[in-house]
Amino acid sequence: MSGPADVPTRTVKELSLSRPPRSATPRRYLMCPPAHFQVTYSINPWMDPTKPVDLKLALAQWGDLRDRYRSLGHTVHELDPRPGLPDMVFAANGATVVGGRVLGARFAYRQREPEAEAHLEWFRSHGYSEIRTPEHVNEGEGDFVVTSSYILAGRGFRASPLSHGEAQEFFERPVIGLDLVDPRFYHLDTALAALDDAADEIMYYPGAFSPGSQMVLRRLFPDALAVSEADALAWGLNSVSDGRHVLLPQGAVGLFEPLRERGYEPIGMDLGEMLKAGGSVKCCTLELRDE
Ligand code: ARG
Repeated sequence: MSGPADVPTRTVKELSLSRPPRSATPRRYLMCPPAHFQVTYSINPWMDPTKPVDLKLALAQWGDLRDRYRSLGHTVHELDPRPGLPDMVFAANGATVVGGRVLGARFAYRQREPEAEAHLEWFRSHGYSEIRTPEHVNEGEGDFVVTSSYILAGRGFRASPLSHGEAQEFFERPVIGLDLVDPRFYHLDTALAALDDAADEIMYYPGAFSPGSQMVLRRLFPDALAVSEADALAWGLNSVSDGRHVLLPQGAVGLFEPLRERGYEPIGMDLGEMLKAGGSVKCCTLELRDE
């Protein structure tokens, strides 16, 4: 509802000036070094096996991301990379962890199938007892984005819609299904990101979603940051926020100012090599929400 015509509405800038500074909360992440990273097959429109990958550079870029998390006070655990699994660097796809419960992954393509078991083994040997081996295809946080009130769940390219009910039952949280319609944004985490997971603040690129799902997002998140196609194509939504710092691909230049206006501190990262496989900051990072 808009106010009386003579009452000026406040801009986002003014609102952010009156808001207390954003605060970061310490996080635990699981990452997997790209020791065997390669592009040998193509399972998304970004992957071109004829384009060479610079492994040394990939390892350095990945190391910068890990070190940046640690310098911000976060804990990073490392999963042992396995030969023959070139996409294993994208640790976000290996599981979903909410409230200490672990829902394992089940990959859509056979090339990545064995990654699921590698993740399950890691969780078993690190003290997790509530672990579910999934019945339906889900690629972990690729298609599940956790906010304070919901688990947002993508479908259309990878996750089976049936995985949404499975996640809802297991985590006992409302799961909101969202239809992805643009193959360039084949996982939810390429088109939508949680900014403040304690306050249901998100950003997303509307064009990646069906009209009905766009309306659902507008209803649930009226204050969301809408992201342009250019910034979405620069992978700006494949970002990780700790509530204050937002680590995102450095090429998403149009996102830095809007994030600052909302009180966030954007940190540009270069994950150019991982981009050749269709992944960036968020894909490399699985959050362990242990509570
Ligand atoms: N090459 C990988 C695949 O297509 C990239 C995965 C990216 N991960 C993500 N969370 N979006 O499966």
